[in-house]
Amino acid sequence: MNILIKNISEEGIKADALILPFFEDYSPDIYSDLDSIIGGLIRRIINSKEFTGKQNQSSLLHVRNINSDRILLIGLGKQSEITSDRMRQAGGRAFFSLRETGVKDIAVSSKLFEHLPKSFIASQKPVFYFIEGGLLSLYKFEKYRKSENNKEIKTATILGSDKDIALKWLQTVVNAVNFAKDLINTPSNDMTPAVLSDLAKSISGKKVKVKVLERKDIEKEGMGAYLSVSKGSAEPPKFIVVEYKGGKGDPLALVGKSITFDSGGISLKPAEGMEKMKYDMSGGASVLAVIKAVSELDLAVNIVGILPATENLPGGSASKPGDIVKSITGKTIEIINTDAEGRLALADAMGYAIKYYKPKAVIDIATLTGACSVALGSEAIAIMGNNTELMGKLKKASEETYERAWQMPLYDEYKDYIKSDAADIKNSGGKNGSLVTAGYFLKEFAGDTPWVHLDIAGTAWNDKDKPYMPKGATAIGVRLLLTFLKEV
Ligand code: BES
Ligand code: MN
Ligand code: ZN
Repeated sequence: MNILIKNISEEGIKADALILPFFEDYSPDIYSDLDSIIGGLIRRIINSKEFTGKQNQSSLLHVRNINSDRILLIGLGKQSEITSDRMRQAGGRAFFSLRETGVKDIAVSSKLFEHLPKSFIASQKPVFYFIEGGLLSLYKFEKYRKSENNKEIKTATILGSDKDIALKWLQTVVNAVNFAKDLINTPSNDMTPAVLSDLAKSISGKKVKVKVLERKDIEKEGMGAYLSVSKGSAEPPKFIVVEYKGGKGDPLALVGKSITFDSGGISLKPAEGMEKMKYDMSGGASVLAVIKAVSELDLAVNIVGILPATENLPGGSASKPGDIVKSITGKTIEIINTDAEGRLALADAMGYAIKYYKPKAVIDIATLTGACSVALGSEAIAIMGNNTELMGKLKKASEETYERAWQMPLYDEYKDYIKSDAADIKNSGGKNGSLVTAGYFLKEFAGDTPWVHLDIAGTAWNDKDKPYMPKGATAIGVRLLLTFLKEV
């Protein structure tokens, strides 16, 4: 979609539909000139209380005497309660419903955003969030079935004199989110480790180098923990390393869990809902999407992205509970539960990153535990780490993007939970504290390197449509990490 900024009045713009945002409890008379031209229709619908400006409420009017054929009224809720995310939601509702009606060219009035309360502070221009929500809401996954509705919005024009809106950033970020969603929504028969590694190679460029370690290389590197996850599958593992060099100094390592299908292995998962385990590579998809966007935006940073891709299946040569494997760090791990496979793959990926890249920090992003959704539902990422400053920066980016993160503790006492009788550590401490013991397990592989863990198990998939997040993959973490990277 084309996004333009034009300094044209609401009554002057020619569009199929003109979007007018409203507050519920505060209505400056900013649309009154326009309203008198169209015969007071807005006043009438407001007086009738059919439209009150409640959050995400909308009304479509067909109008005469101005250059646009339709006006969409969209509610932002109470002025005093406005947040950037409420703007995203309203934008999402507005764009989504207008696409349904089949219009091609839309325009957005940004006048109301001049009337935000003093308490409203955001790093982007207010209209940015409205458009961001609008664009995100339009994602469709049509790889296997075209919807009957092939309607598309062609252009969105922002009305106003402020040209200083970060449109390139916005479009690159939204494209990256959509790219990650496509990868995650693709079922595992078409999103194997090999396919994922080819996709990674496709983002190679002047500043992006992609290297893929095959099974024999992985063996040679001594990544026995990661390798053990792949043993039950006929699909070969692919250890994907994506280097982006846009600046000076040690890189930031981004490690994304990339289990293209998690059946649980010999510790098999129940059948119900297992089809969703194609999204167990969400972390890896987000890392890839982030690096893609970083290279398109040409950010002055160094990043190494690591995607230890594999399936977790219960084949005849699969790992079995009780098996002991050795990681790249030399630590031995007793596999108590083959379904706690993510931490095995991540331990080696983190170990590899630290051994070869001396990263200034490691951030891992992973659909790591069912307990994450038990604790936080689908509202927040669980964030843990060994470095307060790094966590603080991520939390800030998380507020800005509303990809919210809630901190969980990594008390030393959790060490006991994952003590093994036979190896240095075991991969499961059982049910109690399963979210934090998974984090603690990873901490043991971070060593002294500043490290943060993002458990996205609860947030990476939407079972229901949300105002600007259609159901399916959410690609959570992409906006968060890009916003974080912009600030560092
Ligand atoms: N991929 C799962 C976690 C998961 C579950 C993500 C549901 C999204 C939705 C992970 O590999 C897993 O199976 N974790 C186990 C660990 C346990 C065996 C210690 C879990 O959380 O049940
Ligand atoms: Mn698992
Ligand atoms: Zn998993």
